[in-house]
Amino acid sequence: MPDSIIGQPVDRIDGRAKVTGRARYAADVPSGMPVAYGVLVTSTIGRGEISRVEAGEAERAPGVLLVMSHENVPAQGPFKAGGLAGQRHARAKPQLDGTRIHYYGEPVALVVADTFEQATAAARLVRLSYRTESGSYDIGEGRRLAYPPEHIVVGKADSKIGDVDRAFASSAARIDATYTTPYQSHNPMELVGSLAEWSDDKLVVHCATQLVNSTHHSIASTLQLPLDKVEVVSEFIGGGFGGKLPIYGDAILAALAARQLKRPVKIVLTRQQMFSVTTHRAATIQRVRLAAGNDGKLTAIAHEVWTQSARMDEFAEAAAASTRAMYAAPNRLTTHRVVPLDLPVADSMRAPGDAVGQLALEQAIDELAEKLDMDPLELRLRNEPDQDPEKHIPFSTRSLVPCLQQGAKRFGWDRRHKTPGRMKDANWLLGLGMAAAIRPNYRQPAHARVRMDENRRVVVEMDMTDIGTGSYTILAQVAAELLQVPVDAVSVHLGHSAYPETPGSGGSFGAASCTAALREACLALKKKIDAGQGSGNLQAEGQSEPGEEYRKFSQYSYGAHFAEVAVDSTTGEVRLRRMLGVFDAGRILNAKTARSQLIGGMLWGVGSALHENAVVDTRSGAFVNSDLAGYHVPVHADVPTAVEAVMLAGFDDKSNPLGSKGVGELGICGAGAAIANAVYNACGVRVRDYPITPEKVLSGMMRSELAQQR
Ligand code: MOS
Repeated sequence: MPDSIIGQPVDRIDGRAKVTGRARYAADVPSGMPVAYGVLVTSTIGRGEISRVEAGEAERAPGVLLVMSHENVPAQGPFKAGGLAGQRHARAKPQLDGTRIHYYGEPVALVVADTFEQATAAARLVRLSYRTESGSYDIGEGRRLAYPPEHIVVGKADSKIGDVDRAFASSAARIDATYTTPYQSHNPMELVGSLAEWSDDKLVVHCATQLVNSTHHSIASTLQLPLDKVEVVSEFIGGGFGGKLPIYGDAILAALAARQLKRPVKIVLTRQQMFSVTTHRAATIQRVRLAAGNDGKLTAIAHEVWTQSARMDEFAEAAAASTRAMYAAPNRLTTHRVVPLDLPVADSMRAPGDAVGQLALEQAIDELAEKLDMDPLELRLRNEPDQDPEKHIPFSTRSLVPCLQQGAKRFGWDRRHKTPGRMKDANWLLGLGMAAAIRPNYRQPAHARVRMDENRRVVVEMDMTDIGTGSYTILAQVAAELLQVPVDAVSVHLGHSAYPETPGSGGSFGAASCTAALREACLALKKKIDAGQGSGNLQAEGQSEPGEEYRKFSQYSYGAHFAEVAVDSTTGEVRLRRMLGVFDAGRILNAKTARSQLIGGMLWGVGSALHENAVVDTRSGAFVNSDLAGYHVPVHADVPTAVEAVMLAGFDDKSNPLGSKGVGELGICGAGAAIANAVYNACGVRVRDYPITPEKVLSGMMRSELAQQR
């Protein structure tokens, strides 16, 4: 359809509002009343009890209105540990709930004052005494305490088919390698923050949340209020990445303090607090065993994962989950074990599980290819499954091979020298690497409302969020196409709990779920228009949920990453020179915003490979590099312009009626492994302990030089 609006690279309809400052983020929302400012005080021990709170000095400080601690916090709904995504983020989140300290940096008090500066100054005057207990903060040491988790994101903790050990013992080529990935922290530009206001007995919370609906439930159940006494507003969100799936102390404490002070209260976390008060991606230890015949056909795949979980709230990083669908092999084993530590709560971060699982698996495949003396592209092609290898059901679509082949062609993969260290540019050693990517496609029930007035202006309402991904724009495109109006005739209203319920933004399910519901609403409206019902304002609602196709078909999106790096032969510094990702995520809803998502994911892969590492002080349980000076993410200087994402034309009618699949988390999957494999190809150093920092590369190069001299 040449005149299709869906798919076009339409500019963000909210772009102008964002660049002119009219887009209101939670902390920017003005109030009709003078706002009071809250600042959190956080624990300076990792495990123990609060023995004393001395608030007097803080209370007497200029401008201070309230100091809240476990001693005077109002009653709240009880906390239930664990749970899977949906329920997990709708749980009550009681704050300052007792004397127990579960992790370093846990909120222990709130100071509210007339100004932010007064609250910040007074927060330093709250004195807490603790009875410190020795805690477990080291995943390596804690491994002996590991246990199977109740849930992983999808499926069971373990899977086993055939006999991996036997196949492993009798195969021509094998790899048995252990990879480690560090703690990672979401660092969206917008800090987590909330503004809470009461009018009579009704609470309005403006907050940064990906999931308006579960946030609505979470706030209502914590404050023990009926849902209709709580409104949640989150119209613009400056990045989420999973870190804004749950809500945190800012939302709850702002609501409690505002009720008490009869005045709006705003609380914004500091960048440092983001590392402990919000969730993080858990560190992992991953053992990967691969066995193959001389023909390169895998006979066994084993992927065993150990991952940190907060002792207080179980969450398992499902790093081996996508290994269950990546390659064919008759003998298979995946396991997940959580290591309970006295650290902040782990939860989802962009492509939870898959992002770090593929860092390990896709490096192991490269290692096996070398053992077999086979091109790593060819090895992947030889192990393409004809159905889901563990569920034994067909894939809805399977396009890993076209992604690999087109990527190889466009990138010039044939220019790679299979022996490391052969390509040079002055002092730089050059290398090419590649990796495959898969990411499950999820869908959730969603609802939408659409109106059209006599001038054919359309209004869409959903409690969906736009976390920077382009939700506003793709929903406008869908409504415009189905109702045959221009995109600029559509106003999209999102991020409000009064609007029809959606799953929000998470797990890359937002677009496929919400566009399906909006389509139903538009079709219903069209029927009314065609029937000539009413004059002027017409309104319709629609809903949509995943059907049988999600049980009958294994649904994934696919990709292939190719990277060229340069390694400084003197310092071990790694520079990305160019990178290409080729992807199939079904029908692309907006070529521009989808490309941005994919490139964003790829660059996050660069960060995972080379930069990111939230370091735990294993004596105290504190994240020590908790700001953007200490916690490195790729910046412009780390990223050349030659980074490109290509999207194959696809349509998956099993995913949703529009044929689209989730795209937001696909780009990060496998991306870091392509970099790691390129580093190896450049300099012959295999770093299995991410991130691949200069000192690790350099010591590897020095070891191999020494070995050569002997
Ligand atoms: Mo995503 S990590 O489910 O926001």
